Amino acid sequence: MISAVERKIEQYIAELDDSHVKSLYSKIPHGKRLRTKLILKIAGSSLKVIKTAATVEMIHAASLLHDDVIDEAYQRRGKASVNASDGNKTAIMMGDILYSKAFFELNSISPEVARVISNAVVQLSLGELADVELSKKFHTNRDAYLKMLYQKTASLMEASAESAAILVGKNRQAYKKYGRNLGLAFQMIDDILDITQDSTTLGKPALHDFEEGKVTLPYIYLFESLDEKERRFLLSLHRKNLTQKEAEWIKSAMKKHKIIEKAYSEAKELVDEAIELMESLGERDLSNIAKAMIERAF
Ligand code: IPE
Ligand code: IPE
Ligand code: MG
Ligand code: MG
Ligand code: MG
Repeated sequence: MISAVERKIEQYIAELDDSHVKSLYSKIPHGKRLRTKLILKIAGSSLKVIKTAATVEMIHAASLLHDDVIDEAYQRRGKASVNASDGNKTAIMMGDILYSKAFFELNSISPEVARVISNAVVQLSLGELADVELSKKFHTNRDAYLKMLYQKTASLMEASAESAAILVGKNRQAYKKYGRNLGLAFQMIDDILDITQDSTTLGKPALHDFEEGKVTLPYIYLFESLDEKERRFLLSLHRKNLTQKEAEWIKSAMKKHKIIEKAYSEAKELVDEAIELMESLGERDLSNIAKAMIERAF
């Protein structure tokens, strides 16, 4: 029951008893609620499960508020981001409020769930910091990139699935692995969509990662496929506002070297493993979530 989760979040926001925060929160559109869907599919809809999903969505929203400040992104979920409409200071504090309220509520769910989710937020923050560091100069360090990707994105999905399993006494290792693979693939696809989609479809800036310095997997693979002269050209575009022509050059080079296919098949391998695991447990809905995730357009 996604609507029960929405009501729980609204209740948590109302308890803050702050009309400014309430009005700011009401302006933030809902996202895809993927983490909620995972949790509900694994664990049903008891009050503890609804509370867990609500805290995870608040944590996720907080991470996006901070992420848009970090990435200087002015659009989110199809609207002006909070940093764009109300400034960085408001976005940062609104993020802190959502994080803290979520942690406060986690305490009344279960100590083990609180431990798993709060540890994921430590990882998420370490990952966002690593992302900032990795963006300072061009690199082709795939291992560092994958570690960062696990931390910033997969850790929270892994923790969502594991927490849900804990709440209903399912095999937590299996669901943890499912969440981890899904999270890794999810960010790989997010990085691909940044290149292949337009900002209207995404509801957030497109072709923005490289401008912000992010050398995502497709860019690492592209660099490896280029000749010396082309490599120099790609390097000259790193951390720059791209002209239409430069953006076209990147896209056509990606096409020529079949880079998107290569990155996509890496994400697909992770998803296939997750699907297989869920099929073996008779979790058809969870395997369908994984299938839909890899085929998504935004
Ligand atoms: C966006 O996550 C941030 C990433 C981890 C790539 P989502 O794509 O799940 O964001 P919403 O909640 O649906 O907007
Ligand atoms: C994921 O990275 C953000 C978080 C885990 C908070 P991105 O920076 O790629 O996310 P988007 O593309 O802005 O949604
Ligand atoms: Mg971002
Ligand atoms: Mg980011
Ligand atoms: Mg992104």
